[in-house]
Amino acid sequence: VHLRLLGSQRNIGGELFFGEASARDLAREFGTPLYVFDASDFRGKCREFLAAAPGSHISYASKANSSLAVLSLALEEGLDVDCASLGELEAALRVGFRPEQITLHGNNKSDEELRRAADIGLGRVVLDHLSEIGKLADLARGMRVMLRLAPGVDPETHEAISTGQEDTKFGFNIADGSAESAYREVMKRSSLRLIGYHCHVGSQLMNSHAHQAALHRVADFAVRMGSPVEEICAGGGLGVRYVAADQPESIATHCEAVRRGVEGAFRAAGTAVPRLGFEPGRALVGEAGTTLYKVGVRKQVGGRVYLSVDGGMADNPRPQLYGATYTAINASRMDEPHGAVFRVSGRHCETDTLISEAFLPSTTDEGDLIAIQTTGAYNFAMASNYNRYPRPAMVMVGDGTPYLAVERETLSDLFARERVRSKATP
Ligand SMILES: Cc1ncc(COP(=O)(O)O)c(C=O)c1O
Repeated sequence: VHLRLLGSQRNIGGELFFGEASARDLAREFGTPLYVFDASDFRGKCREFLAAAPGSHISYASKANSSLAVLSLALEEGLDVDCASLGELEAALRVGFRPEQITLHGNNKSDEELRRAADIGLGRVVLDHLSEIGKLADLARGMRVMLRLAPGVDPETHEAISTGQEDTKFGFNIADGSAESAYREVMKRSSLRLIGYHCHVGSQLMNSHAHQAALHRVADFAVRMGSPVEEICAGGGLGVRYVAADQPESIATHCEAVRRGVEGAFRAAGTAVPRLGFEPGRALVGEAGTTLYKVGVRKQVGGRVYLSVDGGMADNPRPQLYGATYTAINASRMDEPHGAVFRVSGRHCETDTLISEAFLPSTTDEGDLIAIQTTGAYNFAMASNYNRYPRPAMVMVGDGTPYLAVERETLSDLFARERVRSKATP
């Protein structure tokens, strides 16, 4: 099986390197499991996006990886940011994003989130349901808002990351008239300024067909409502390469397809074409991430060989959540053919299969270092402490000397916020 190296990954003498940094040295210095994040790959993707969509409003969808180090790189690269909670919002502010660069999302925003958005004057609040229109209007003065629309398009992806269909908890349904009611509600409120419409059809999409179909419906709706539209946001959704079969279209092709979709729809209606917005998450960070694990156990069970690594569902719940697939590399035996099939499992008290059929050298054994590619999106961000495992460290490579961006949690971190009732003294 041919190894597909991503970003700055290299094979030097049979060992995996990220630029000049060897996986073995990183594992020795920072321990395993270890999230390795390739800043140069991320910066390159940000620049590709900016170049492919000149004049567009590009916000990094911070939910994909909201570590402060990654957010600060996004800021340096000139992106704005999309946040979906107070925590993500505070993370963005902490690294220096100005409030006007921030978009707030959420299908059930708390009063605290709305108040904070109004107090600091966020760039955009994307409205998702009727009652928050009134709530925000009472708090805000001149707040720029967008309506999140559910355009009724089914993307071809996993159900848990499909969001653009009619039957969804997100946004205002165009077909059943909810979107029009929301539009009328917003227009009644002088403290809100409707700048445009938003849709996000789904995630890990290999092409822009669903985006184009959705944007046509959004544009039709915008034209029907009549008020001039400043911005149309296409959300995120562009996919990345997890396994060889994943062949997502390029960032340039994606941006061009979305631009043509919006332009076509507005031109056909004879109205001015609004500014385009994008909220890429996975496409920017996914391939920049690699997780290093150590094999602890090699076990033959019938015809199958299990490799149990020192991480699993707590640092990467995606295989269990979405049936997500990944590619593994034996980081110290890269010159050996990766042709034998193994099941890579985690160490949690569940059947936490990380890769059901991983192709690795037949000699792969206990003590080997395994690199799982494309873990930059929705891994760190979704990590838990299941089984009381401290969360892994994240090391940043490709930005000068590797540095520890997130410290490994300690056992005392795990208990820092817990109390037991003190026993009455006799
Ligand atoms: C509103 C919105 N924008 C952007 C994104 C980012 O999506 P992706 O990581 O697929 O680019 C999401 C993902 O859930 C989202 O809900």
